[in-house]
Amino acid sequence: MIHSRITGTGSFLPGAPVSNETLIAIHGLDSSDAWIVERTGIKARHLASPGTTASDLALPACQQALAAAGREPGQVDLLIVATSTPDYVFPSTAALLQAKLGIKSGGAAFDVQAVCSGFIYALTIAEKFIQSGSHKCALVVGSEVFSRILDWRDRGTCVLFGDGAGAVVLEAAPEPGILASALHADGAYNSILSVPGHLSGGQPIGDPFVRMDGQAVFKFAVKVLAEVAGEVIATAGMHKEQIDWLVPHQANIRIIQSTTKKLGLPMEQCILTVHEHGNTSAASIPLAFDHGVRGGQIKPGNIVLFEGVGGGFTWGAVLLRF
Ligand code: ACO
Repeated sequence: MIHSRITGTGSFLPGAPVSNETLIAIHGLDSSDAWIVERTGIKARHLASPGTTASDLALPACQQALAAAGREPGQVDLLIVATSTPDYVFPSTAALLQAKLGIKSGGAAFDVQAVCSGFIYALTIAEKFIQSGSHKCALVVGSEVFSRILDWRDRGTCVLFGDGAGAVVLEAAPEPGILASALHADGAYNSILSVPGHLSGGQPIGDPFVRMDGQAVFKFAVKVLAEVAGEVIATAGMHKEQIDWLVPHQANIRIIQSTTKKLGLPMEQCILTVHEHGNTSAASIPLAFDHGVRGGQIKPGNIVLFEGVGGGFTWGAVLLRF
């Protein structure tokens, strides 16, 4: 049987961190650092400069991941980008990134849209491709310029998000690697978190900004994250005591605290970047993972649990041996 394992990680954050105080001052928000920190844990986020795209942020993250894996761009035969803030309507951000990376292998390149669960979806798809024998070396990327779809007059959403990119190289291997994965969606909950607009006739039609029912999202996220974590642990035939590190989607410290409590995992085993990055949507898990790896917390051989939830609603988890 062909297995797959992560052989390299990378990440990129644009510019200097923007503190809560600075964001509040720039946009004249009726908010405070104390409110944002208490309700979300977020102290700062990075924001891309005008004209910087998701593929621009993804490029250095991918170059770092390839270097860590000891691979050249030409060896990549599958490139998947998870993003809700693509460069264009089309071609895909993955196709644009493939060109920027100088990949001429003719391998597949496509985007995945599952909002904040996007990286979990993309990694699971890459795993299935590799398991089938059709592909050997995948670059799996989460990249977002989420600031482009924020309404800076809406204090309930604009303080929550940031921009960034994270990437992993996933390669065919004789031993697993990926131990179990699970993906879920329930479109009936589409309206609690959405950007309910589109382009038509050269104009945005409907609302082009993030709209959210924060309390409904909070309740839904805590419920499904605990469930899906339990699901992958059971599928792998393991126990929660075997997990070394939890790398959750970095939406909000209170969601992470509630989920770890439900799972019975100590917060000390949780990689946290939400304080410094905010919620970078599809980029948040690979960014946090790369920080854990480069920071020396996550070591080769560790059992790591990724879990994510996002608009759709979508959610999923991946359990792996690094
Ligand atoms: N500063 C000050 N006051 C604020 C702010 C702000 N930035 N944002 C909202 N408020 C106000 C509201 O207007 C409201 O005022 P009112 O009582 O005068 O009407 C008051 O705070 C309470 O509002 P709630 O929405 O009830 O606040 P809550 O305690 O639920 O916190 C929050 C809001 C932080 C958004 C919370 O609901 C939450 O964490 N939800 C999860 C959402 C999330 O993380 N989304 C990320 C995207 S989804 C994902 O990635 C999975």
